[in-house]
Amino acid sequence: MTTRESARHLVVGNWKMHGHHAANEALLEALRTAGPLPCDVAVCPPLPYLAQAAERLARSAISWGSQDCSAHEQGAYTGEVSAGMLAEFGCRYVLVGHSERRALHHESDAVVADKAKAALARGVTPIVCVGETLEEREAGRTDDVVKRQLSAVIHALGHCAGEIVVAYEPVWAIGTGRTATTEQAQAVHALLRAQLQAATAHADGMKILYGGSVKPDNAAALFSQPDVDGGLVGGASLVARDFLAIAAAAAQA
Ligand code: 13P
Repeated sequence: MTTRESARHLVVGNWKMHGHHAANEALLEALRTAGPLPCDVAVCPPLPYLAQAAERLARSAISWGSQDCSAHEQGAYTGEVSAGMLAEFGCRYVLVGHSERRALHHESDAVVADKAKAALARGVTPIVCVGETLEEREAGRTDDVVKRQLSAVIHALGHCAGEIVVAYEPVWAIGTGRTATTEQAQAVHALLRAQLQAATAHADGMKILYGGSVKPDNAAALFSQPDVDGGLVGGASLVARDFLAIAAAAAQA
């Protein structure tokens, strides 16, 4: 346990490759009109809907971001989107190193670190995702894996490492309905906090989010852990009532 003062929580919705224009309209309207929220809130829609989110959420308390960005500034990178382009659409955040991108698109620790660096250079806060697979956890390698993943980013960012958000997402808990216990989450978050403390003077004020089957009924317990500063929410972020209930859970933390 650490003795840091609890900061304002952050709850981020990762829509993944879900949604369509009409459904997004309803979801964004429900979020926009929800009234005051007890934490910071952001949504990360698929890229074609970024402008829609920017337009609907402008002048609201809710931020928006992207699920990925290129490590490059510009050039012949078909299909890629740069951090500068995200900044033009008002993105506050960008997810980098989500386990689905690490696994399905073979993104290495070095590429993830380059993406985090590219985002910061354009004033977009990278939410750096780390997490172990079930096989790695069962082999007792959780600590080594998450430390290695975060270390690559800390190393690449140097004195700017204090400007990122970290998200711990155990791969075995994503989309499975199987959440890490509060003890499992806190243990890894404390480890990541200690690693950040060794790298930057700002570590106590940094946000470390938990992701992996966060739902309205488990959010308050997770968010009340001393080193859990909010959540990165997949499936439940597509249902306004559930996502708002998760955000509301931050009030009890
Ligand atoms: P679920 O909340 O659907 O498990 O997804 C978690 C996640 O991957 C968020 O980035």
